[in-house]
Amino acid sequence: MKIISSIQELRDQLSGQLRTAFVPTMGNLHEGHLSLMRLARKHGDPVVASIFVNRLQFGPNEDFEKYPRTFQADVEKLEKEGVYVLFAPTEKDMYPEPQEYRVQPPDGLGNTLEGEFRPGFFGGVCTVVTKLFSCVQPRVAVFGKKDYQQLMIVRNMARQLGMPTEIIAAETYRAEDGLALSSRNMYLSETERAEAPALFQTLNFVANEMRAGHLDIFQLEHKAMDDLAKRGWKPDYISIRKRNDLQPPSAGDLAQGSELVVLAAAKLGTTRLIDNLEI
Ligand code: PAF
Repeated sequence: MKIISSIQELRDQLSGQLRTAFVPTMGNLHEGHLSLMRLARKHGDPVVASIFVNRLQFGPNEDFEKYPRTFQADVEKLEKEGVYVLFAPTEKDMYPEPQEYRVQPPDGLGNTLEGEFRPGFFGGVCTVVTKLFSCVQPRVAVFGKKDYQQLMIVRNMARQLGMPTEIIAAETYRAEDGLALSSRNMYLSETERAEAPALFQTLNFVANEMRAGHLDIFQLEHKAMDDLAKRGWKPDYISIRKRNDLQPPSAGDLAQGSELVVLAAAKLGTTRLIDNLEI
């Protein structure tokens, strides 16, 4: 595997490649990321991964400084997956001058859910993903459903901006007890780790109630948040949304059987976890 940090060198290395499958990451790779690499392999060749902890998508009080950086271990894992190039730019390589041009998602999709609780987050994601796509020029790029809103925003962005990159969605990789794998899980204490699957259980509760015909969304969301709060969580939201635009479903949408997803974000101790489940 070639490890490349300069944009020019990356372009030279990949020039003429028409079927590149790309997986952007922020490192601290776990089985969830590796499952993205395996899916990428099915959709293209060569597989290119990136590791870049993107300051632009972190708020001033978020964990940019302490975000886990485990470069050597990551390299070994990617090598085992047969990744052809790892693009691992420094901040100076990626942002040699202040990044004044930004790509912003539209308000409806960008300011709801995660966008409401993490202002600026999706602007930072769209900007770096656009820049990474411009460097790698992939034919396909793989994003996990774990970050459901991110996946949807990136997919819409690629379509609306006419990017030649198809966005492939990968299923969420879960531990045996249901907890979605995430780099931030490593912040959990032992007791918190034991409690953490309750988030996915709550999503399942909501999905099962909906499937059983309980359509009072407002009441369901509140009950789910209350239940989590009683267990010691601080929920930001548990929200049932339409899959196609992540807006709340109207009574008409429910009657027509629109496809739905329930999304959640909640803090356990100081760790903020997100998860979702398609209903
Ligand atoms: O999902 C992530 O790890 C990041 O948001 C991404 C897509 C690599 C952009 O920095």
